[in-house]
Amino acid sequence: MQLPDYKEARKRSKEEIKKEYYVFDQDAANIGLNKTYFVKTYGCQMNEHDSENIKAMLEELGFTEAEEQEKADLVILNTCSIRENAHNKAFGMLGRLKHLKTESNKNLVIGLCGCMAQEEKVVQDIMKKYKYVNFVFGTHNIHRLPYILNEAFKTKKQVIEVFSKEGNITEGIPVKRANKYKAFVNIMYGCDKFCTYCIVPFTRGKQRSRDKDDILKEVNKLVKEGYLEVTLLGQNVNAYGKDFDNDYRMENLLEDVAKTNIPRVRFMTSHPWDFTDGMIEVIKKYPNIMPSVHLPVQSGSSRVLKLMGRKYSKEEYIELFDKLRTIPNVCISTDIIVGFPSEEEQDFEETLDLVNYCKFDNAYTFIFSPREGTPAAKLEDKTTLKEKEERLYKLNDIVNKYFLESNQKLLGKEVDVLVEGHSEKEGLLCGYTDTNKLINFEGDNSLIGKIIKVEVTDAKTWSLDGKAKDTK
Ligand code: 5AD
Ligand code: SF4
Repeated sequence: MQLPDYKEARKRSKEEIKKEYYVFDQDAANIGLNKTYFVKTYGCQMNEHDSENIKAMLEELGFTEAEEQEKADLVILNTCSIRENAHNKAFGMLGRLKHLKTESNKNLVIGLCGCMAQEEKVVQDIMKKYKYVNFVFGTHNIHRLPYILNEAFKTKKQVIEVFSKEGNITEGIPVKRANKYKAFVNIMYGCDKFCTYCIVPFTRGKQRSRDKDDILKEVNKLVKEGYLEVTLLGQNVNAYGKDFDNDYRMENLLEDVAKTNIPRVRFMTSHPWDFTDGMIEVIKKYPNIMPSVHLPVQSGSSRVLKLMGRKYSKEEYIELFDKLRTIPNVCISTDIIVGFPSEEEQDFEETLDLVNYCKFDNAYTFIFSPREGTPAAKLEDKTTLKEKEERLYKLNDIVNKYFLESNQKLLGKEVDVLVEGHSEKEGLLCGYTDTNKLINFEGDNSLIGKIIKVEVTDAKTWSLDGKAKDTK
């Protein structure tokens, strides 16, 4: 048994990160034969991608994917810690699984992994109050799943294995990609920014960049397999390579990935601190790097930004924002937190001013959620929830207005769309524009899996409607 330890998780050792290779655990071979699994994923793309690894490892062990969790022999919850409601959802699901286990499926095996597994308090609760959970593993030891699962099957005891010291980088974990045309590629793990509200540096550990050769090998393989889009993933992709001894950085990697000629390259998430002019030049130079940047601002008040430990002021953010706007047709999205401890009406007004200046093409807005173990959770917070909610609604009204405006600008224009499949709207196809806007349109099934021109005929707040032109 190995439990999470926050003291360890907070440390940043100078030790070099070692690269390991995934080895199939022969002892666990066939433990999944004639059994089905269901993986439920919460949170960000990083978790979604981890679930793609988890599913592939399970299938190597003989499991097959169940269509719904009620029919599965094994259910794994891949959890998120970012805000309290993510926690509540996962605990709510554990309650439902308990019911399933006691009422209709006595042999159900339940596992929990992801960011919540890295939290001391969560694991203590699971040991005390959720004894029916069969196993827990963390974000640093996903590759150990076959071993952990085998232990849980053999011993019939609760198995907990969570590493708190940042893991090495494990290459070669199998992957079952959720999408046939778009793929996630990790370029780095962890985060060293320690924004004061954020749990990620604890749950995902020290920043570790992946070897460029491994990344390019993976992208080249995806090109050969016919993938049309890669998203380079990391908590703070602009800091890629800062932990290396050489000077190969994100702008170099982005350029090398663009040169593989994969039709579409995206990257996320960016921190304003590490966004270089060189990166902007590379984005402009390569038409296959999509003109779409996610640049979380978090607040428009320099005072609050300082308390958040973001290391930039409102003015510095705007300076970078203006530079990014020089990328032709770029769409810029953001994240904003309202109700950070000590945020006054005046600070909030500054956030609104910034939003009115930037007119973001998309924005994710949140109420501050204190996360145990982070510095901001200890700050005095006098603002009531009602006030925070009012701020959020007011902010949402304004950001929504700009989403609609951003979509309306495309009316009558032709946009490039990667056609992913059938829309939820009957009889229509759907896909994403280069700027990552969802579009539903009339067109022939043969267009699925292609990048085509679509004329925009209607613009809504959250999506576009259109009509397919000829294929590319
Ligand atoms: N409370 C509210 N929002 C948070 N985020 C991160 N931590 C918190 C928190 N404690 C938001 C930030 C980040 C996004 C992924 O989630 O806006 O960019
Ligand atoms: Fe969290 Fe800040 Fe790191 Fe983003 S940059 S993961 S908000 S600590």
